[in-house]
Amino acid sequence: MKPQVEAKTGRAARGVGRREFLLGALATTGLAATHLSGEVMSGIARVAPDTLEAVNSTGASVALSSSITADIPTTVASNVTPNSDFFIRNHFTTPAINEEKWTLDVVGMVAKPIKLSYSDILLTASEHRTITLECAGNLSGGAGVSTSAWTGLPLQALLKQAGIQAGATTVIFHGADTGGGDGVPAGTHFARAIPLEKAMDPMTLLAYEMNGAPLPPAHGFPLRALVSGWYGMDSVKWLTRIEVAQEPFKGYFQQELYVALKSNGERQPITRMRVNSKFLRPLNDEEIRVKAYRIEGFAWAGESKVAKVELRFDGSGAWQPAVLGDSAAAMVWTPWSYAWTTSRPGQHTIEVRATDDAGNSQPLARDPDRKDDYELNTPHRISVKVGPWSQVGSS
Ligand code: MTE
Repeated sequence: MKPQVEAKTGRAARGVGRREFLLGALATTGLAATHLSGEVMSGIARVAPDTLEAVNSTGASVALSSSITADIPTTVASNVTPNSDFFIRNHFTTPAINEEKWTLDVVGMVAKPIKLSYSDILLTASEHRTITLECAGNLSGGAGVSTSAWTGLPLQALLKQAGIQAGATTVIFHGADTGGGDGVPAGTHFARAIPLEKAMDPMTLLAYEMNGAPLPPAHGFPLRALVSGWYGMDSVKWLTRIEVAQEPFKGYFQQELYVALKSNGERQPITRMRVNSKFLRPLNDEEIRVKAYRIEGFAWAGESKVAKVELRFDGSGAWQPAVLGDSAAAMVWTPWSYAWTTSRPGQHTIEVRATDDAGNSQPLARDPDRKDDYELNTPHRISVKVGPWSQVGSS
């Protein structure tokens, strides 16, 4: 059953009369909306793009555009990353999608398969959520993590509308992008599956806006999954089909990539984001010429909340507590700061580590039994030069 809607697209369409189809269900999902504001784009200074080698290694068996590119916000004045600075991680080239022709199919083990157009999506009851996305191959302190204020519809509502049949266990997201080579069978589409339980989590969204603008092409226009609190590979972009199934999904990107490998051959799927943190200032190799310096950064913990952030100077001594922003919440990174009095001129190393509210801390060393390059969450470590002091002020 396809709803008949006015051929109106774009953000204006959301103000138009809403249809009964979907909306009854979507409006009752009970998600508290957070509101976008003009502030979301402020307070960010751009620095040179940063390309991550780590992701080349995690995606090593995948040819094509397998690097993350991103600019790094240099202040925590804003909690969200401007769209132009949000990291990009694509396995294939960005598909060109005509919004007039694009459709989303909800199929498989459902009582009533659904087909939706872009206009239909824009007419559904939407939610706003500020959510942090991290690539599973992000380096410690790397640029493969960003946060956006997303607008979308809860997947749960769509699945309820379609009517999930008994015995279903998994939900597969199929993307429009395709490619092959270097181990990837020709014509493979990017696709990932998540358990039905996670698909029914009210925080799992189908997003069509980032920071109040339609999704940019590189980030999945017209519609992407947003699997909050899980590493980025499950947040499938350029969605064309959502398939409800009973059997484990055997797609290439499910079985060959994004798997934790132990030396005994044990394989575990990568899912939840681990607790992690990074510096925003100072940057590595920065020269600090003031005595009072405010160190800043972000910490995040996937489905958990950040409980504690600590800094260690020069690789020894006690870990010092940083001050957390007052908004620590699950699914979104938390700003932190540390007032540093630079007492000794010269070279210093600084490390940061976070602990979540379940007591999990970033490990000081990588598990030697891990044979893959995912979940790299050892403390971010930078080196800075202090002095000579040029002023008595602070920064
Ligand atoms: N979806 C499709 N269709 N194709 C992709 O290559 N990459 C995944 C995910 N969704 C990918 C995809 C990975 S590995 C990550 S980390 C996130 O998208 C990155 O999302 P972003 O590029 O919007 O930051």
